[in-house]
Amino acid sequence: MKKLYYILLFITLPLSAQIKIIPQPNEVTYHKGSCQLSTQITYKQDNLITNPEGYQLVIKPKNITIKYATDAGKFYAEQSLKQLKAQVKLEGKNAFPCLTITDAPRFAYRALMIDPARHYWKISEMKQYIDVMAQYKFNYLHLHLTDDQGWRIEIKKYPKLTEIGSKRTDFEGSKRNNDGFYTQAEMKELVQYALERNVQLVPEFDVPGHSDAAVAAYPFLSCNDTIIGVRTTAGVSKNLLCFAKPEVYTFMDDVITELSEVFPCKYFHIGGDEAPTDKWMEHPEAKRLLQANPSLKAQDLMSEFFHKVNSSLIKNGKQPLIWMELDIPNYPQGSIMYLWRYRTTPQVLERAKKDGFKVITSPGEYAYFDYPQAKDDLPNVGWMPTLTLQRVYEFNPAFNLTTEEEKEYIFGVEATLWGESVKDLFRAFYMTYPRALALSEAGWTQMPQRNWQAFIEKLDFHLQYLLKQGVNYRPPVELSQLTNSKQ
Ligand code: ACM
Repeated sequence: MKKLYYILLFITLPLSAQIKIIPQPNEVTYHKGSCQLSTQITYKQDNLITNPEGYQLVIKPKNITIKYATDAGKFYAEQSLKQLKAQVKLEGKNAFPCLTITDAPRFAYRALMIDPARHYWKISEMKQYIDVMAQYKFNYLHLHLTDDQGWRIEIKKYPKLTEIGSKRTDFEGSKRNNDGFYTQAEMKELVQYALERNVQLVPEFDVPGHSDAAVAAYPFLSCNDTIIGVRTTAGVSKNLLCFAKPEVYTFMDDVITELSEVFPCKYFHIGGDEAPTDKWMEHPEAKRLLQANPSLKAQDLMSEFFHKVNSSLIKNGKQPLIWMELDIPNYPQGSIMYLWRYRTTPQVLERAKKDGFKVITSPGEYAYFDYPQAKDDLPNVGWMPTLTLQRVYEFNPAFNLTTEEEKEYIFGVEATLWGESVKDLFRAFYMTYPRALALSEAGWTQMPQRNWQAFIEKLDFHLQYLLKQGVNYRPPVELSQLTNSKQ
């Protein structure tokens, strides 16, 4: 009889009672009855909730209870309830369906990355971006603060970094000025703003490559004291910070020490990508080392370089995040590696198992939000592959690892919005949404609860939810064709 009751309940449940929360909660049970929207919420600290971001939301006819163990869990319960309330209102109803949601994230690290180095963002714009991502339970915003095309954060010991490195007169012939940087005081205020929304800001100081803006300010940082300007084109530069100069390590130590005081997050990104070592190998120190050890490779020097940078991080209580390059033989213990390059997933996972490091999965195949969302869509950059909403949705950040391996090696997931073509916030939102909605489920929701069809049935509500907040997004027109052809 009980079984029959449940079957009937399931069949008779009106479709509109299906809740449309994104990311999909991990456990939802529906009960009989409904609950007025104005019902008071009772909050309960519950130490039985073991995941610090976990929560339980219980809606009964006469009361709503939120149970949580930390402020993060409380915040996420409120985000779920807020979405539910907006859905109910949009459907023209005045009551919640009664239900219990028991929820906690699949991964501890669920991030988006923005790139104010390439195109400067105002602090107020970053706040808007944080407001939206926090609603979808992202908990880290990675700030790519330094690159060839701009240095965007005040460093008191090295004022030219911003006097010179934050100013650019052109980009790819557009003649568009792009000046701006954040004072440490402004950034500290942003850190607090984000923390109030359970978002930690992860700074990135990209070394030894992507450093033209720093070298433009302080030529001594390069191996041959190169005089250059802030780079005005995309691409990869050979003006690396020099591995052979003690003053370069002093510089990095100073920058890391100042930034560690601004950013309380224990994770600190030190870049590590796309660093051609031609100029290193021309340096007399490389020649001397090579004579002493003919089997020495440039990549060994790179390993050594990261170990030295890591000693500054350790001194400041930080743990390195690194764009992993497979040819670097030896990264510092405790580094968390990014899986980012196209078609390298099996090798990176193999390396993680061999070297015992954790991975943040951000592969070009699923998580590069600078790529266009459809053929002939923005941006119009010939070499870029298309990254559709559906493709992002299909992303399983643990790939084919077992559950045990997933726990051991996969720290989380991140989408990167590289900024070469992201000239303002309007474009940034367009590139981010709705793909970030798909990615939020990859980071939060366990695989058995994820379903593309169910996701697209929730999408219409979320596009309206975003629109009401003034958030731009790319309308997923290919899906409306899909729905029309079904009718
Ligand atoms: C990267 O895409 N250069 C990490």
